[in-house]
Amino acid sequence: MSIQVVATRALLAERLDAVRSSGASVGFVPTMGYLHEGHGSLVDASVACSDLTVVSVFVNPLQFAAGEDLDSYPRDLDADLDLCGSRGASLLFHPGVEEVYPEGPVQPAVPLADVALPLEGERRPGHFAGVAEVVARLLRAVGPCRAFFGQKDFQQLQVVRRMVVDLGLPVDVVGCPTSREHDGLARSSRNAYLTGAERAAAPVLHRALHAAAAAVAVPGWDRAEVEAMMVDMLAGEPAASPEYAVVVDPDTLLPADHPTSGRDLRVLVACRFGRARLIDNLGVVAG
Ligand code: PAJ
Repeated sequence: MSIQVVATRALLAERLDAVRSSGASVGFVPTMGYLHEGHGSLVDASVACSDLTVVSVFVNPLQFAAGEDLDSYPRDLDADLDLCGSRGASLLFHPGVEEVYPEGPVQPAVPLADVALPLEGERRPGHFAGVAEVVARLLRAVGPCRAFFGQKDFQQLQVVRRMVVDLGLPVDVVGCPTSREHDGLARSSRNAYLTGAERAAAPVLHRALHAAAAAVAVPGWDRAEVEAMMVDMLAGEPAASPEYAVVVDPDTLLPADHPTSGRDLRVLVACRFGRARLIDNLGVVAG
């Protein structure tokens, strides 16, 4: 079945109402485009358990702060269409800014949970408010049974989960595993910004996460020591400028102090490599 591009909410509703009235389930993968294998794995997850999959491609101005990479964010709609079509998606929703924000420049109004405050929330003020606003609008436009998000952006996934509960949206949020390159680097549209030397250095993110997982598994581990070890590993790469490296409670994203043995925790890192600001994370279990 070939994939169709739809640019308006009205046309999208027309297509999807017909499908839903026949009892078919709709899966949804929101993206900002320039799709890679990581996005592809979300499309696969949706296609595997939905009768029809919608992928949105929309670079959301509301989630970029002044001075961030909104204008230079990479775009390639033809390639995105190929990837989505070849993985079995049925509709690609590609709205213009005025279609998503018909009222003009908006102040995000969706309530934000505390999980949006630390880490990325501190370093990118307004970012999660913009994400929550657009995801709420997209979920309302598509009305899916399930929506698929990557664990790669773990804090975003938790923010979206909370937002869906707070707004009472009737959708299952599914968190999907991080897709990685052969050397462990998490796939990201922003990897396109890396120079050769930066690309060679970037797998240190993954190595630091695994070193932390091993350290946290040893009973008696100390959070500050593990975090300092990760920062040292990252800073050991001349191309890397670490921003944070933390061990946190996965639900609150607050520091995991004195967790009981066997508890699931999350380790998250953010680091600059030249123009690229990369984030990654890993689930770990306290020893
Ligand atoms: P974008 O960065 O395009 O990512 C779209 C989805 O793909 C997100 O759920 C993200 O976590 C997931 N993803 C990205 N890289 C991945 C990887 N290596 N493995 C698995 N999943 C991966 O995240 C956004 O867009 C936007 O903030 C959005 C939610 C679309 C709102 O504008």
